[in-house]
Amino acid sequence: METLGATLEIFTEAGGAWISRWAHVIAGITWIGLLYYFNFVQGPAFAQFDPNSRSVATDKLASRALWWFRWSAFATFLMGILILYFQPFGDGRQLFEMDYLKTGQGISILTGALMGTIMMLNVWGAIWPRQKIIIANARNVLAGGEADPRAATAARSGLLPSRQNTIFSFPMLMFMVGTSHFFGAYQTGSGSDRAIYWVITLVAIALLELNALGVFGTSPGGLRWIYDDHKNAIATGIVLMLCWYGLWEVLFR
Ligand code: HEM
Repeated sequence: METLGATLEIFTEAGGAWISRWAHVIAGITWIGLLYYFNFVQGPAFAQFDPNSRSVATDKLASRALWWFRWSAFATFLMGILILYFQPFGDGRQLFEMDYLKTGQGISILTGALMGTIMMLNVWGAIWPRQKIIIANARNVLAGGEADPRAATAARSGLLPSRQNTIFSFPMLMFMVGTSHFFGAYQTGSGSDRAIYWVITLVAIALLELNALGVFGTSPGGLRWIYDDHKNAIATGIVLMLCWYGLWEVLFR
């Protein structure tokens, strides 16, 4: 009976919070693992392939990896929303019944979830539509057809949001993990400090995203230096993560 009771726990709020958190992390590692694979492994390797081998690999390998990539991105987002729905906050009340979003935990998860949601929209709205052109082109060329001139532009404009997602992943994961494990202890009671935090955070995220979407241009160098190489993206991600950590120390410690 006790086992049955424990099994039924899954269908309670506590069970929902447990399962959604577990599924969120499983989907999240699948997504970000594939993001790192594309950026750190596949991109540099494909650049060294001859055109025919690259087309075969795009058809057989990249198309499969992209299926897992985009659906795990969506599942991560969905499960993240479910955690917010199931998880009790503070004294057991639900998300909008208390000032959760003014607490250290609330500000932390709002920042991380905002970055994660933009990353998910980048996958579905900016990366996948370009990859569809590239895959269709590879299949057409393998079947003896003419190369699609749009494929090169699609590759470049899909690369920028992909590298930006790599950059976001570093501060985003700091906030995801920090929500329950360290940002809860910060003093976020001052409304003006919170206002300063959100202005800096929202402007920084907006500028990075506009840059990734090519609003300031798409050619290499300049503001796109951070996307020029996967090492530049890693360095930028780590520096940004430290900047956000510093902002918390200055405003909320
Ligand atoms: C796409 C938008 C996302 C949303 C809306 C979201 C939402 C959430 C929420 C609500 C939590 C619980 C925070 C807490 O109270 O402890 C959480 C935790 C977490 N999330 Fe996300 N998340 C997103 C993306 C990601 C991604 C891409 C990853 C990558 C792996 C990720 C990994 C994690 C991890 C590791 C935790 C901590 C689990 C724990 O400490 O128990 N999340 N997320």
